[in-house]
Amino acid sequence: MKKLLYYLITATGVVFLFGAFDTAPSGPAPRTAIPASTAKSVSSGTCLRATTTAATSTARTTAIVAKSSYGPEACVDCHDDEVAAFNRTTHSKSWQHGMACEQCHGDVTKHVESKGAEGTIVSVAKMTPQKLSETCLKCHEKKSEQSHWKVSEHARAGVTCVTCHDVHPSKEQKSSANAVGKSAMIRGTQTELCLSCHKSTEADFNKPTHHRVLEGTMKCNDCHNPHGSDKPHQLRADTKTLCVKCHQDKRGPFLYEHSAQTMDGCVACHEQHGSAARNMLKVRDVRELCLSCHSAEMGVGPPHGRGNLSTTTAGDCTRCHVAIHGSNRDKYFIE
Ligand code: HEC
Ligand code: HEC
Ligand code: HEC
Ligand code: HEC
Ligand code: HEC
Ligand code: HEC
Ligand code: HEC
Ligand code: HEC
Ligand code: HEC
Ligand code: HEC
Repeated sequence: MKKLLYYLITATGVVFLFGAFDTAPSGPAPRTAIPASTAKSVSSGTCLRATTTAATSTARTTAIVAKSSYGPEACVDCHDDEVAAFNRTTHSKSWQHGMACEQCHGDVTKHVESKGAEGTIVSVAKMTPQKLSETCLKCHEKKSEQSHWKVSEHARAGVTCVTCHDVHPSKEQKSSANAVGKSAMIRGTQTELCLSCHKSTEADFNKPTHHRVLEGTMKCNDCHNPHGSDKPHQLRADTKTLCVKCHQDKRGPFLYEHSAQTMDGCVACHEQHGSAARNMLKVRDVRELCLSCHSAEMGVGPPHGRGNLSTTTAGDCTRCHVAIHGSNRDKYFIE
């Protein structure tokens, strides 16, 4: 009967063949609570690595092919919490019922038939970071949003998909403002999640002028792709395109562009997150900012005097050069 079911399911194309899985060694390997063990400050330097190396060094590879026909009903007697949690997610709605658990935990036949004997099933929690992510990527890698995962800073640092996403989310999480389904099974709110590791970034957003991320009007992933990108710092675009998506008035093209943006885009003069200077500028004294490029040494238009009375003008340069981002009227950005 079971065999028949299997063929039926295969015939309808529901069976996904699995690649190689890393199974964790059976034995005293502790069940790691993912958020607690990984959500350390990046600056601590020990973030993640301590918890992942142990698993890496002892893991062995076993090829597992999903071909049994036990669905979540077969698990509910012993794992009602996990089944209920799974049923709260988009995953439970998107997949053919009958095969759900196997997509990540591999063939469940032995496990069910032995009534849960030790070492008979793949524990995703005990996989190496790389194997774990591969388990998810076999379905998600084709989406452009996740397609740069393997080259991301996060993958390189041993952060995994389930560091940030909870595949078996709790009831509290589901009912919170960060509801599963609306918010991609994120652990906590996005800002809390990111700042739990990126502590120094939080300090930036507390500076006198800043993008309102802590206030909730913007999110880290407006500018970064946490799954990696082909730009530095996992940015969604280069440091001009990214900014003018929202700051349309600075987009241009202007008849007279300020070449200051050629190399570093907007971050040539502005901090990206927050600053102690007005307008999120890199330096408090605007004059100093201008002179960092406009000097004899840098060879970009040395400072000038006015009316031949002095060698340099006093005060902020933007007193006169008001159209500092570019102008259609004046090549010196006076208007
Ligand atoms: C008769 C009870 C029973 C049923 C039915 C059952 N399990 Fe289990 N399961 C257990 C027990 C007991 C353990 C703990 C075994 C151990 O210590 O490794 C376990 C452990 C697990 C683990 C963790 C393995 C590890 O190495 O930490 C996973 C994952 C799992 N079960 C998934 C499933 C899935 C999926 C199903 C349904 C297809 C299922 N179980 C059905 C009893 C059961
Ligand atoms: C999308 C992948 C995925 C699917 C599908 C999935 N799980 Fe899991 N499961 C995980 C991950 C990842 C963990 C460990 C991380 C965590 O606690 O969030 C886990 C943990 C578990 C555990 C705790 C033991 C352990 O390995 O740490 C059990 C039991 C379990 N799952 C059962 C199930 C059952 C039953 C189903 C089907 C209803 C299911 N899972 C479907 C990914 C999955
Ligand atoms: C550093 C944290 C982080 C990691 C690691 C991470 N994600 Fe995400 N993921 C996010 C955030 C943040 C969102 C956006 C949530 C929102 O829209 O509110 C998201 C959204 C998603 C979405 C839904 C949105 C979409 O359009 O794709 C999927 C699917 C997803 N992630 C899969 C993955 C997979 C697979 C991995 C591992 C390869 C992974 N994530 C690793 C933080 C993370
Ligand atoms: C068998 C294919 C498959 C596997 C394996 C898989 N997913 Fe998914 N996942 C889907 C589908 C289908 C959807 C729903 C449609 C979509 O968003 O693309 C989805 C949606 C998601 C979402 C968005 C949910 C939402 O509410 O917006 C996240 C986050 C996610 N998956 C994370 C993971 C993680 C983490 C893993 C590995 C532990 C994983 N997935 C493994 C197929 C898969
Ligand atoms: C307005 C867009 C924007 C937002 C929102 C944003 N970032 Fe950034 N972030 C950037 C840019 C641009 C850079 C690269 C600057 C450069 O090239 O010098 C960067 C760099 C970084 C860096 C590496 C350099 C550094 O400053 O430490 C980290 C880490 C980072 N961001 C984390 C975050 C986190 C976490 C959040 C949310 C709490 C966030 N960012 C929100 C634009 C943004
Ligand atoms: C579990 C801890 C952890 C979480 C959670 C986390 N990160 Fe990271 N992140 C890291 C580590 C570790 C690195 C690599 C080391 C580094 O460059 O700081 C990194 C690197 C980055 C970088 C590249 C920094 C650079 O210098 O180029 C950005 C940008 C970033 N993360 C943004 C985010 C965003 C956005 C989120 C939330 C969606 C997030 N991170 C959540 C640990 C984490
Ligand atoms: C040459 C340095 C420089 C570059 C490059 C630069 N800015 Fe500015 N920006 C300034 C200065 C100086 C001010 C303050 C103007 C003043 O003194 O009145 C400012 C002010 C701003 C303001 C606040 C006031 C306003 O005009 O809305 C925004 C927003 C802004 N810049 C965005 C951008 C964006 C987006 C880019 C990239 C396209 C960019 N800036 C590139 C120097 C620069
Ligand atoms: C997702 C939209 C968005 C993106 C992308 C974005 N900004 Fe902003 N930015 C805003 C909003 C909204 C404000 C106004 C915040 C406020 O009034 O508190 C702002 C304010 C500013 C200010 C003025 C701050 C002040 O207090 O005067 C500067 C300068 C600025 N952004 C520069 C940048 C730069 C540089 C980038 C690219 C690295 C960038 N922005 C990317 C939305 C964005
Ligand atoms: C990151 C370097 C950089 C910074 C900072 C910078 N500039 Fe420039 N600026 C340039 C470059 C490069 C040119 C193009 C010079 C050329 O074509 O000879 C330029 C051109 C100009 C011009 C037009 C000169 C001409 O001959 O057409 C003016 C005026 C000017 N900048 C004023 C300022 C002021 C005022 C500030 C401070 C708010 C400033 N710049 C900050 C790099 C910079
Ligand atoms: C009182 C108004 C005023 C102030 C203040 C001012 N400029 Fe100018 N700047 C001008 C005018 C007007 C021009 C047009 C050419 C001319 O008349 O010499 C000019 C031209 C320039 C040029 C291009 C021609 C040249 O002489 O190299 C640069 C570069 C420049 N200014 C940079 C600066 C910098 C840097 C500062 C701040 C240290 C500054 N300006 C302060 C009015 C001013």
